[in-house]
Amino acid sequence: MTEQTVLSGIQPSGNLHLGNYFGAVQLFLDLIASGHRCYYFLANYHALTSLRDRTRLLELTRNTAADYLALGLDPDRCAIYRQSDLPEVCELQWILSTVTPMGLLERCHAYKDKISQGLSADHGLFSYPVLQAADILIVRANRVPVGQDQKQHVEVTRDIAQLFNNSYGDVLTIPEPHIRPEVAVVPGRDGRKMSKSYSNTIELFAPEPEVRRQIMSIVTDSAAVADPKDPDRILVYSILKLFTPPDAQAEWADRFRRGGLGYGEVKKAILESFMEKFGPARRKRQELEQHPDYVEEVLRRGAAQARQVGLPLMRQVRDAVGIPDP
Ligand code: TRP
Repeated sequence: MTEQTVLSGIQPSGNLHLGNYFGAVQLFLDLIASGHRCYYFLANYHALTSLRDRTRLLELTRNTAADYLALGLDPDRCAIYRQSDLPEVCELQWILSTVTPMGLLERCHAYKDKISQGLSADHGLFSYPVLQAADILIVRANRVPVGQDQKQHVEVTRDIAQLFNNSYGDVLTIPEPHIRPEVAVVPGRDGRKMSKSYSNTIELFAPEPEVRRQIMSIVTDSAAVADPKDPDRILVYSILKLFTPPDAQAEWADRFRRGGLGYGEVKKAILESFMEKFGPARRKRQELEQHPDYVEEVLRRGAAQARQVGLPLMRQVRDAVGIPDP
C-alpha cells in the first residue's frame, strides 16, 4: 500500500478505557506500524464545547498525551500535538465556513441532537464540524480513522473541501474516512457499548484495586457454576475474548458449554489478562507522570511537524482566496 497521510483527533475528555483501546488506539498503532505518515492530535479547542474549567482542561490535555504515549504511540514515528499549537486551524475554519452551507451543519448529529432535546446550542457546537474539517485538511490527510459516530463529520469534510475546490481550484486534498470495523465495539460492564457516559468502563490506568472492582462488577446472570452455558450469550466471555487468541477462545467456549465454569473464574482470568496486556503501559504511564517536561517536549516536536505541512497549506489557501499572508 502506498504511504498515506493519516490524521485523527482525540478529545481530551476523560480516562481511557478498554473501549478506547480496542476501538481506536489499536488502529492508531497499526497505522503507524504500516508505515503511514500519522498525525494524532489532542482536540483541545473542540473540548471547549463541553468543558469550561481551565484547570481541568489543561490537566486532561496533558494526561491524555501521557496516556497515548504510554500505550505505545511512538513520537519518533508519528506526530502527537495539541490542536491549539497550530492555531491556524481556526483561520482555516473561518475560510472554510464561508463555503459551508448552513444546511450541511444543521444535519450534523451533535447539533441536531441538542436541538431535538429542546436545548439551545452555542455557535461552537454548531460549527464544530468545520473546525474538524480544518484539522483534517490542514495537514492534507487522505485517511481519517474514526468510529462510526464520526463518519458524518468526515463526509462533511469531504463536502466542504469539494465546495472550496469548486470555487478556488484544486487546493485541498479530499480525505477518505477509515471507519473502524464494528467488531471492535467493546461491551461495557453492563453489556451496553463501553462508554464513559454510561459509567460502565474498565479504565486502563486506574489503580489496581479499582480495576479489580470494575472487572468484578461485570454483570452476570444467576446460573450456577455447574450449569452448561451458551458462551455467545455471556458478557464476561465477550470481554475475555478481547484478550484471548482464537484457539484459547475455543477452549473457554467449550468449558462454558460443558458446565462447571463459573463467572468468578472468568473474571479472574480477565483481570490477569488485563494486567499482562497493560502492565507495561501502566508502568510507563507512572514513569511519564514523573516527567511532565518530556511529555511537553513531545507535544512541541509534534506541533513543529504539523506546522511544517500546515503553514504552507495555509499560505496556499490564503493565496487562492485573496488574503495576504500576515
Ligand atoms: N470529533 C472527534 C471526536 O469526538 C475528535 C476530532 C476532532 C477529530 N477533530 C478531528 C477526529 C479530526 C478525526 C479528525 O472523536
